[in-house]
Amino acid sequence: MMKDAEKGGFGYVVAWKSNRMGRNMLQAMLNEERLNEMGIRVLYTEEELRSRIVQLGGRITADYAGRRPMLVSVLRGSYIFMADLTRAISLDVTVDFMVVSSYGAGTVSSGQVEIKKDLSDSIEGRDLIIVEDILDSGNTLYYLMDVLRARKPASIRICTLMDKPERRTKPITADYVGFVIPDAFIVGYGLDYDERYRNLPYVGILKPSVYGK
Ligand code: PRP
Repeated sequence: MMKDAEKGGFGYVVAWKSNRMGRNMLQAMLNEERLNEMGIRVLYTEEELRSRIVQLGGRITADYAGRRPMLVSVLRGSYIFMADLTRAISLDVTVDFMVVSSYGAGTVSSGQVEIKKDLSDSIEGRDLIIVEDILDSGNTLYYLMDVLRARKPASIRICTLMDKPERRTKPITADYVGFVIPDAFIVGYGLDYDERYRNLPYVGILKPSVYGK
């Protein structure tokens, strides 16, 4: 015969659950406190990002049915999005990576785009999908589209997780957009401020006081 504790009697279960709730609440409070300290307000949670990316992957899967698109990740910012997006696409895709930088250490694009690492493979005749974390002024993609078009791919489309159309200065539109966002400085899920915060699992708005505005 089992003892009460082994069966998990009602009182035991309630106590265990309320301990767990207490721990979760404490964890949430600590996280909130930590976020305040860092000057970050959550804009999209992990769950919201996950479900939107599954939708994007589904659309790409349907649009490219029967084809083998090549996904080109524009690093560094897009590394987490790329990993999740490719796993949400049920097609025989290939992947390649470019390292491009236009921001330097500031919060406003310098306008100077620099290719720090080029693609490894030829893109001639391929259906390219450029994967970006954020489309802001459009400088980076305006420059990249020119460079990539000259290499004669069959087609090029743009997939960006975040789109900040208010700040666009170049005629660039994305074909797949995760979220249209306001003109705020965002970090997390690959996006940085001075190389920090890329590993946050959510996307947050960095308070202007943090970057001295
Ligand atoms: C970010 C982002 C885009 C670009 C978008 O890259 O990843 O590539 O800015 O801005 P734009 O539309 O104004 O050109 P960043 O230069 O910050 O480098 P990172 O990817 O290494 O963070």
